[in-house]
Amino acid sequence: MPPFPVERVRAQFPSLARRVGELPAAFLDGPGGSQVPQRVIDAVAGYLRDRNANSGGVFVTSVETDAMLDEAHAAAADLLGADDPGEIAFGANMTTLTMALARALGRTWSPGDEVLVTRADHDANVAPWLLAARDAGASAAFVEIRRDGTLDLDDLARKLSRRTRLVAAGCASNAIGTIQPVARVAELAHAVDALVLLDAVHLAPHARVDVAALGCDFLACSAYKFFGPHVGLLWGRRELLETLPAYKVRPASEALPVRWETGTLDHEGIAGTLAAIEYLADLGRALEPAAAGRREAIEAAFRGIEAHEQELSRRALDRLAAVPGLALHGIADPARVAERTPTFAFTHARRTPSELARFLAGRGIFTWSGNFYALALTEALGLEPQGVLRAGFLHYNTMDEVERLGDALLELA
Ligand SMILES: Cc1ncc(COP(=O)(O)O)c(C=O)c1O
Repeated sequence: MPPFPVERVRAQFPSLARRVGELPAAFLDGPGGSQVPQRVIDAVAGYLRDRNANSGGVFVTSVETDAMLDEAHAAAADLLGADDPGEIAFGANMTTLTMALARALGRTWSPGDEVLVTRADHDANVAPWLLAARDAGASAAFVEIRRDGTLDLDDLARKLSRRTRLVAAGCASNAIGTIQPVARVAELAHAVDALVLLDAVHLAPHARVDVAALGCDFLACSAYKFFGPHVGLLWGRRELLETLPAYKVRPASEALPVRWETGTLDHEGIAGTLAAIEYLADLGRALEPAAAGRREAIEAAFRGIEAHEQELSRRALDRLAAVPGLALHGIADPARVAERTPTFAFTHARRTPSELARFLAGRGIFTWSGNFYALALTEALGLEPQGVLRAGFLHYNTMDEVERLGDALLELA
């Protein structure tokens, strides 16, 4: 595979040229939200300038808005490996879409039913299910994790029963980067006829998310993590999305996807989301010119992204292991980089996570401290109340930025 064209990628993201005083900014804040390429900025502004309208009208800007929305659903289906664009619902963000789905699914549960959530997940894939179970009089239980943050599939197998109605799991941890064996989770859950919802918010900018290969029933993610604007996406199997009791206003259509897309959507954000998916497809075409179709091109993009990010991960793990007093949480073995995203969570013997974030910000390195709402995980790993320092790399980050992080942390000694 030719070297990943990281400088050509970076040239498309204007914000990456930002400086902090004399220093170039190092955006290691990607797990909290990615930067966007120029074409996403142009798509958002261009929509507002040229086609701004509500949908469903007979005049040209409304017709163009509907065409853009159709194309965005088709692009999102390509991104997520879905066959049917009607199975994609856009919404405010992953949390809001999951709350709406949980409220609908919860109406199909009764006392005696059970929901399984995991210790590894962001609370957006925990709290909606705990609340829906409570409202239905159903029970909820947590699937435990192993020390390296991977899901304990034996614990899942023990907890699954004919009473289990739903398993909600995350594809990858937004706090420590562990990629979870969610295809296996879906197999185990389906063996007892439970439904499966996967949270792909953290994984989506790092790896191909393919609902067919994962075998799930629902999957949610967010465009602002994969180089687009602040828009959420929900995919679900047509027969479920058509029949579940969605909370919606009466005049709105019962057809998919409208019955899940409550209210007027963020059209400019969806235009930007379409541009972000097209950006990924064009990256794939640049890496593998034979990959012409959008879906194949997106797959090609992620082959390149994964190879580049794994190289960054191997070096980052080496550098972090060499910092005195630093403890990395999650998978630390450079031979296992395929099982993690380049999202690194650590604590330091003499500095709190928020002190570390401030120290790094002073050196132009943008990171986050805290639990990033992955509360069950930081509790399970004994990391509350301070949480961790999180440095997260995306495909636009460079080896030089890995070295800068390593060098800065060595200064602490
Ligand atoms: C893994 C994961 N799930 C869910 C969410 C919530 O997503 P949203 O902000 O779109 O509601 C986040 C946000 O950081 C996340 O990282």
